[in-house]
Amino acid sequence: MKIGMAADHGGFELKTRLAEELLGLGHIITDFGADSFEPGDDYPDFVIPLAKAVASGKIERGIAVCGSGVGAAIAANKTANVRAALIVDCFSARQGVEDDDMNIICLGGRVVGYNLALDLIKTFLSARYLGSERFQRRLDKIKAIEHS
Ligand code: RB5
Repeated sequence: MKIGMAADHGGFELKTRLAEELLGLGHIITDFGADSFEPGDDYPDFVIPLAKAVASGKIERGIAVCGSGVGAAIAANKTANVRAALIVDCFSARQGVEDDDMNIICLGGRVVGYNLALDLIKTFLSARYLGSERFQRRLDKIKAIEHS
């Protein structure tokens, strides 16, 4: 799968470890930065380019990591056609895709450990949007305000 990753200083270490693992699993990774650990960097500088790439279809799924995952989710969701959420459990990692067509998973690098983060991502990447009428009806209501 074509995956994009982005992280600020709060998520840099986790992103680096996860990227190595995901490459080993055969995914194609585009890294939107940060490219090095800079304690003063700002998550929108990395998350917004990732969100735009996901929205355009260049990237199929995104992984955004900041300290808590909150700022990453707020920034990503400003882009139309992005459905990002802060995820801390496998149920939501799967159902967020199946029901809500989540296309960016946001993680807290200071909250989740590496093994849980990897489980969350594997669950997110293997899930598919089910597209039933009621799920699509809800997403259409969100899409309507993106273009209002
Ligand atoms: C750290 O600067 C922290 O504020 C940031 O990484 C993120 O957690 C914001 O939501």
